[in-house]
Amino acid sequence: MATKPEIPCYSPGLAGIPVAESAVSFVDGQRGHLEYRGIDIEQLAERSSFEETAWLLLYGELPTESELRTFNKALTHHRRMKFRIRDMLKCFPESAHPMDSLQATVAALGTFYPFPKSLDGKLDEQTVHHVCVNLIAKMPTLVAAHARMRHGDDPIPPRDDLSHAANFYYMLTGEEPDALTERIIDVALIVHAEHTMNASTFSTLVVASSHADPYTSISAAIGSLSGPLHGGANEDVLKMLDEIGSVEAAESYLQGKLARKEKIPGLGHRVYKTKDPRATLLQRLYVELTERLGSDPTYEIASRIEELSKQTLGKKGICPNVDFYSGIVYRKLGIPSDLFTPIFAIARVAGWLAHWKEQLGEGRIYRPSQIYCGEHGNPYVPLDQRG
Ligand code: COA
Repeated sequence: MATKPEIPCYSPGLAGIPVAESAVSFVDGQRGHLEYRGIDIEQLAERSSFEETAWLLLYGELPTESELRTFNKALTHHRRMKFRIRDMLKCFPESAHPMDSLQATVAALGTFYPFPKSLDGKLDEQTVHHVCVNLIAKMPTLVAAHARMRHGDDPIPPRDDLSHAANFYYMLTGEEPDALTERIIDVALIVHAEHTMNASTFSTLVVASSHADPYTSISAAIGSLSGPLHGGANEDVLKMLDEIGSVEAAESYLQGKLARKEKIPGLGHRVYKTKDPRATLLQRLYVELTERLGSDPTYEIASRIEELSKQTLGKKGICPNVDFYSGIVYRKLGIPSDLFTPIFAIARVAGWLAHWKEQLGEGRIYRPSQIYCGEHGNPYVPLDQRG
């Protein structure tokens, strides 16, 4: 008697299927708790800087004073972009989304920094370190340059005397940020820097598992992050809040959406079944900002949506995620909404690279299987006999 072939467990979206062992970060979705290398995100947001956090993610421990000094120096040294990349940016249409521009220019960076490809995927430490520094250092320059050049303005060259966060703001606006603005951007970068296994991190690992070069892998991750179900949701949240227009209109808007079974951007998460701790941190930053700049209706509408959704979606564990309040913070700083996801990418590249490093020289090329549900043995019908 023929034995039935064993059907492997199939989980759409790979939900609950581990695809790697990792020590980079940890999420407890029930408690709303996030750690980078064992350190609570709240502590990092309060006490660390993006540069220090990036080192922590890449090397597993907080840097010593001299390690941090050398790392900062390397990051500032590699901020500049090649004039050919600048020329490439000039060629994009004015309407190009900044995420598409970022994805293309990051892939193009790889053409300038040839990467040793090998079957065993083994790399020397220097090469790996240089790739990490180069990508983390250059991505803010690429985003800021595109943001200016699409309006016909010259890009502003980076400055070596500013922090990662302050330099990004300076390249974008031509102005040095005040201390509060710098800290808010820095904390936003810290909280977006890493988040265990997700679509974009997995994209990095899938591409890198063939030992393709890391610029290609990070470019794939940027593509993945751009979607509205992932990082692109922060832009959609602001679109929604603008569409609602007033606190009074929030209730009927939400009811209408739910009745039509439409999703609310910025709510829900595969892992968190309570409020995302990053949403709480970003909301706090907004409140800090309003002490200086005053509140505005967008935040009031967002709070109302959060409150109303508790009674309906909250019961199902669908709560505000990282994207719910980030856009409101960025808008308050005068940053255009289509730059929200690129800022997410500027931060997340640290996490992507930490996972890339962790996987180097290990593991196998990703080659999942499928459950074939098509037909067999169909005849080839010549063109003149097809109905
Ligand atoms: N608004 C309304 N309902 C939502 C929802 C939202 N934002 N997010 C999930 N749901 C509902 C789904 O409609 C589904 O309901 P059903 O069981 O009645 O069919 C259920 O919750 C499960 O949703 P699903 O999309 O299968 O969950 P997931 O784990 O695959 O997806 C997200 C997680 C993040 C993709 C999803 O919550 C979402 O699309 N959120 C909005 C986009 C967003 O903010 N993305 C950024 C994530 S950081």
